Amino acid sequence: MNQLDQASTQAPRQVAIQVLTNVLLQQGSLSTQLNRLQTQVTSDQQALFKELCFGVCRQFPKLNSIALSLLAHPFEEKDTDLYAVLLLGLYQLSYMKTPDHAAVNESVEACRLLNKDWATKLINAVLRRYQREELEIIDNLMQMPSVEFNHPKWLVKRYKKHWPNAFEQIIEASNVHPPMCIRVNLDRVSRETYQLTLSELGIETTQGGLSDASLYLSKAVSVNQLPGFDDGLCSVQDEAAQLSAQILNPTMSERILDACAAPGGKTGHLLECLSRSQSEEQKSNSVLPSLTAIELEAWRLEKIESNLDRLGYCAELMCADASQTEEWWDNQAYDKILLDVPCSATGVIRRNPDIKLNRKPADIEELIVIQKQILNKVWATLKPNGYLLYATCSLMPEENEQQIAAFLSEQSDASEIKLNHLNANLSLNWGLEVSHGKQLFPTLNGNDGFYYCLLQKSA
Ligand SMILES: C[S@@+](CC[C@H](N)C(=O)[O-])C[C@H]1O[C@@H](n2cnc3c(N)ncnc32)[C@H](O)[C@@H]1O
Repeated sequence: MNQLDQASTQAPRQVAIQVLTNVLLQQGSLSTQLNRLQTQVTSDQQALFKELCFGVCRQFPKLNSIALSLLAHPFEEKDTDLYAVLLLGLYQLSYMKTPDHAAVNESVEACRLLNKDWATKLINAVLRRYQREELEIIDNLMQMPSVEFNHPKWLVKRYKKHWPNAFEQIIEASNVHPPMCIRVNLDRVSRETYQLTLSELGIETTQGGLSDASLYLSKAVSVNQLPGFDDGLCSVQDEAAQLSAQILNPTMSERILDACAAPGGKTGHLLECLSRSQSEEQKSNSVLPSLTAIELEAWRLEKIESNLDRLGYCAELMCADASQTEEWWDNQAYDKILLDVPCSATGVIRRNPDIKLNRKPADIEELIVIQKQILNKVWATLKPNGYLLYATCSLMPEENEQQIAAFLSEQSDASEIKLNHLNANLSLNWGLEVSHGKQLFPTLNGNDGFYYCLLQKSA
């Protein structure tokens, strides 16, 4: 970024409009669009650029309801970029310190830069009206769930139905900026030593209570500021996600499969645990762990590769559809399998706020079918007595306990192992015990929402 030719960069606002337009047109997730376009913004403007993109997505249900109430007609699809300009203007007026006149003027100027001068009057009028009547407008819309809870109506309905007692906690935690949590590589350094090193650099942290490797930073920093990051001393990973490797507790004598692995956060953690479990003899004989990581998307498999390179571990990486076992499995059964299936990601909305824009109820139905296929097929690759840990970052029982209930009713050789029984180090007081497995809800300043269920194959 620092070497970027200034001439090839643009104002963060303009690039944010491109990112948001693409997200609104469902041309990829926010993170994909950020990866694609962030190089057009200089490093000193990155924070503002990300604040604009994440902020509009995080507040989208509310901003969208406000915008629609102020427009006589919604914009046509070809003018989605203008809608992005309007949302960005409303976001600046409501949530940023930008002076109101600057927010309006910048929005009008943005129409010109898009060669859509015809829209300048409209954008100017809508934003000025909002500026004058903000409280009244919001008051009038407050009965809409999208405004009251800042979540899409269908999602609010499902949360209320499934989690009447945790509903408020879920909404509150999903609407805020998440904390930065790291996983210390306990194979290289203790959590206490690393915490002290960070403290000496002025980076204050607290230890998480779920994972023995977790540290929460009181203020997010760039990974470049984390000592030894490039050499694998730590990784950025939510604390709930860190439970996977702790529950599976892999050892060097076992064959391990990570079946939906990219970007490799949990693969790296499994390898750290494996390396830590190595005996002196195994170390001196350079015995390698047996871990296979599978990922459907080639470009995402590359992310696992670079993650493992940074950590200094190796694994067998395969680009394949985990449910097509005949295409990738060598018929050598696995002792332990991590199945972190694709899911609605409703437990991590605060990290992926574009879910509020683009996730639809029909997606969940499709995901349930995919999860079922992968689970059924991968089950065949597990050894008798072996363990499979089913994981999602979803809050939907349909993808979690109900998925497992259906699986158990169809697989006579599968049984559920109550969590905590495998690894004695694990705290007993985590998550909510549901009909099958455990559900974690997102918490303010704490872990993301997650679901785990441990299954064992009968002998
Ligand atoms: C929840 S993410 C996994 C996160 C990963 N375990 C980690 O901790 O970094 C699910 C991954 O499964 C991949 N995936 C989706 N369908 C798949 C399939 N049929 N076979 C293998 N991987 C699949 C997705 O591309 C995505 O990278």
